[in-house]
Amino acid sequence: MRIILLGAPGAGKGTQAQFLMNKYGIPQISTGDMLRAAIKEGTPLGIEAKKVMDAGQLVSDELIIGLVKERITKADCANGFLLDGFPRTIPQADAMKENGITVDHCLEFDVPDEVIVGRMSGRRVHPGSGRVYHVVYNPPKVEGKDDVTGEDLSIRDDDKEETVRKRLGVYHEQTQPLVAYYKAEAQAGNTNFTTIEGTQPVEDISAKLAAILG
Ligand code: AP5
Ligand code: ZN
Repeated sequence: MRIILLGAPGAGKGTQAQFLMNKYGIPQISTGDMLRAAIKEGTPLGIEAKKVMDAGQLVSDELIIGLVKERITKADCANGFLLDGFPRTIPQADAMKENGITVDHCLEFDVPDEVIVGRMSGRRVHPGSGRVYHVVYNPPKVEGKDDVTGEDLSIRDDDKEETVRKRLGVYHEQTQPLVAYYKAEAQAGNTNFTTIEGTQPVEDISAKLAAILG
């Protein structure tokens, strides 16, 4: 099964990716997590990406398309994958098409901007795995520690309110057009498209996704 998770920053893509990965045994391909790993390793890609990400802007299409193309040829993608944070521009979606990469489902998470700004201030992440928590809505079992490894959780550099608002602007301008794009793809019979009310509790959304995907 091949799935695209579409939605604004903080809409819950990474949170539901954890659920879907475990349920369907397919890997999460998060371009944001890949870029953060490159930053941590201090690679040339990471150094270049950090400036752009801290400013709340998008990394170049060319660079991201190259990353994803390489990643999906790996053996663990043989039975499908979850694209989290990709595609995020029309050229990225077109590149998928040109490379013959089709998807079974495009799931859009719909959450109002003001809810998102509130969510991001409480987000905590486990950098090693990309697991996501929230101090109130999805707390770890032990405060400040990852449930699986017990390692420290951290706050993302781009979760400052000012940067979150910039990222939301970029989303509406450059990524939201993909909603109409994939609705048209669904109408043409090339994929399935569903919008999910992303303001419900995490577990309720997971149950809904399981019902949609079967
Ligand atoms: P990326 O890492 O993809 O960030 P994003 O898309 O901005 O999305 P987030 O990870 O912030 O949010 P999410 O939807 O995963 O929400 P989460 O589940 O964590 O990208 C970062 C940057 O990298 C970009 O700005 C860009 O510069 C670059 N980049 C990445 N991909 C790119 C691409 N394709 N092209 C160009 N540049 C690219 O949830 C958020 C919080 O809410 C958590 O605390 C969570 O616990 C909580 N929460 C989740 N669900 C619920 C719920 N139902 N109720 C209450 N709280 C909830
Ligand atoms: Zn995420």
